[in-house]
Amino acid sequence: MTSIAVVGPGAIGGTIAAWLAQNPALSVTVCARTAFEHLVVETPSGPITAHPRVLTDPATAQPVDWVMVATKTYDIDSTAPWLNRLVGANTRVAIIQNGVEHVRLFAHLVPPEQLVPVMINLPAARLAPGRIVQQRHGIIAVPSGVNGDALVALFAKTEIAASADADFLSQAWVKLVSNSAAIVPALTLRSTGPVWTDALAAIVRGIVEECAAVGRAEGAVVPDSVIEATIESARTMDEGSRGSSLQMDRMAGNRMEIDARNGVIVRLGDKHGIPTPMNRMLVTLLAASGSPWVSRG
Ligand SMILES: NC(=O)c1ccc[n+]([C@@H]2O[C@H](COP(=O)([O-])OP(=O)(O)OC[C@H]3O[C@@H](n4cnc5c(N)ncnc54)[C@H](OP(=O)(O)O)[C@@H]3O)[C@@H](O)[C@H]2O)c1
Repeated sequence: MTSIAVVGPGAIGGTIAAWLAQNPALSVTVCARTAFEHLVVETPSGPITAHPRVLTDPATAQPVDWVMVATKTYDIDSTAPWLNRLVGANTRVAIIQNGVEHVRLFAHLVPPEQLVPVMINLPAARLAPGRIVQQRHGIIAVPSGVNGDALVALFAKTEIAASADADFLSQAWVKLVSNSAAIVPALTLRSTGPVWTDALAAIVRGIVEECAAVGRAEGAVVPDSVIEATIESARTMDEGSRGSSLQMDRMAGNRMEIDARNGVIVRLGDKHGIPTPMNRMLVTLLAASGSPWVSRG
């Protein structure tokens, strides 16, 4: 029996935990901040339920074979008490988050050789603790190698298509490029399609091209088609779109993954001497705007 602990059973962690728990060869525990009884996930193939062990106190956790961290990036440091209890010498720790710095962001918490960065493309939303809607079939990519191959094997009996890729760097940057334009509706709080103009198109193109240029300087292969598809997706974004998680977090009064998603473009751009004026301006403005719904009293 392989033991797995999922830290952060929100939209992504809850979906992952529910799918893995369908396999009787896996023992799944979830490490939650907010308690719930069981998981119900509406998947594209119908509802699935799971009854993993739900822990809310790190003191009750014990070392496992695999930890999967699926918190937002701004909650990384708060996972330390869980990781201190769950990670033993042979534990592998999968980081299932957006961005391109999975290993760097956890290097102070887990030995880097035990970390497995994960790119996930799986749109999901949490309705309530333990209640999730998985909107489309999902894919996962990890670096090829012993750890990556072992993680792919865990997903064999799920409907999440997991694969190991020798060029994980490109997978992560292509996802970041695809996500980069979402900072615009997070700032304006409205879909870009209905207000599309040549001036807005130039801003979106600037954001996306800067991201691709920095990714390429980091060694990633980012096809021009990804840039054009991202701009087209912004151009056709419907009025009623749910919005990105940046926007959802801002509207909910939460912190936002600004640094992991667009701040990183600015930081790594500086490292390579690549100007990133569009990202720099929008990151600065979004950080300065914060969440207007949060009481500042
Ligand atoms: N949702 C998507 O469609 C999607 C798609 C691709 C990638 N991603 C990425 O996946 C990552 C997770 O996103 P998400 O949408 O799943 O976020 P989410 O729904 O906000 O879930 C995060 C979960 O982490 C929990 N958490 C935070 N700190 C914790 C701690 N110290 N101990 C235990 N649990 C903790 C939260 O607890 P509470 O219940 O108390 O809030 C919440 O349940 C992000 O990097 C995101 O960008 C998301």
